[in-house]
Amino acid sequence: MLSPRLLERLNEPNYLDLHLKALATLRGVSEPTWYDAQFLVIYEAARRFIALVRPDRLKTFEQGFEILRTPRGFQVRKISDLFDTSTRSLVKEAVDEITEKQLERHEIASFGRFVVHDHPFFTELQEDLLPKVSRLAGCELETGYNFLSLYGPQGKCDLHMDHPLSMFTLDYCIDTDVEWPIHFSKVVDWPNLDNLEEWDPQRIMEDSTLAFESHVIEPNDAVLFSGSAQWHFRDPIPSDGSATLLFFHFYPSGAIDLVYFGKWPSRFDIPELEALCDIFAERYPQLEAKGQTEN
Ligand SMILES: [Fe+2]
Repeated sequence: MLSPRLLERLNEPNYLDLHLKALATLRGVSEPTWYDAQFLVIYEAARRFIALVRPDRLKTFEQGFEILRTPRGFQVRKISDLFDTSTRSLVKEAVDEITEKQLERHEIASFGRFVVHDHPFFTELQEDLLPKVSRLAGCELETGYNFLSLYGPQGKCDLHMDHPLSMFTLDYCIDTDVEWPIHFSKVVDWPNLDNLEEWDPQRIMEDSTLAFESHVIEPNDAVLFSGSAQWHFRDPIPSDGSATLLFFHFYPSGAIDLVYFGKWPSRFDIPELEALCDIFAERYPQLEAKGQTEN
């Protein structure tokens, strides 16, 4: 059944033709199975759709995303003692005061963790961290979302690559009772969605050309990595272990209209793209514009 938004637009000249082309384009783009892969589907579908209906704008569109492509030379940065003693205590108090009701449960099966998004105090800390993280990342950044992650004995983090909204992630360890390394590949291009049936996480994790490096994050330490350009994973947490981590996400300053697709048609002056974005809006409403994210 068509939404009111689509029904209304179908009266516009050429819209039906564009809508059908958009549907056909989307049908041809495989959806990766790894966590947080929706952006790549949206970007690849847009690329193919523009090649079909506005090939004259394709290069401009592709080049427009350059700011979201992590420089090859970027290296994982380790930060010891991220917070001073009093801030660290305040962080722990904030965690202790979190109620059962505040705990989000939608990642218990996939990650073995409870999460809490955008806690007001952690959002304040994220703003304070912005200059430091921009300096470490080597470019001016804006704050994305943050979330507290309470891993229990079922904790794990399968191989994946993040949405560019999390182009840079500061992974801060509040507390843990185990040594639980996180593994990062070197910076790579965004994965090609053409051969997904051959995609094999084990093969990627064992690929020596990807130069995976491992980091154990001690309490009050953090690592900064580029989640949208580095494959990353953790093995299942050691027996009966637990870890309380806080993830602060950042993206490049000025890239807000790129990480969310809602402004792509106007930003790239491709009104035809609206037909595809209308479908994205139904399928991925949280990624249309800032303020709607549920990540
Ligand atoms: Fe990630």
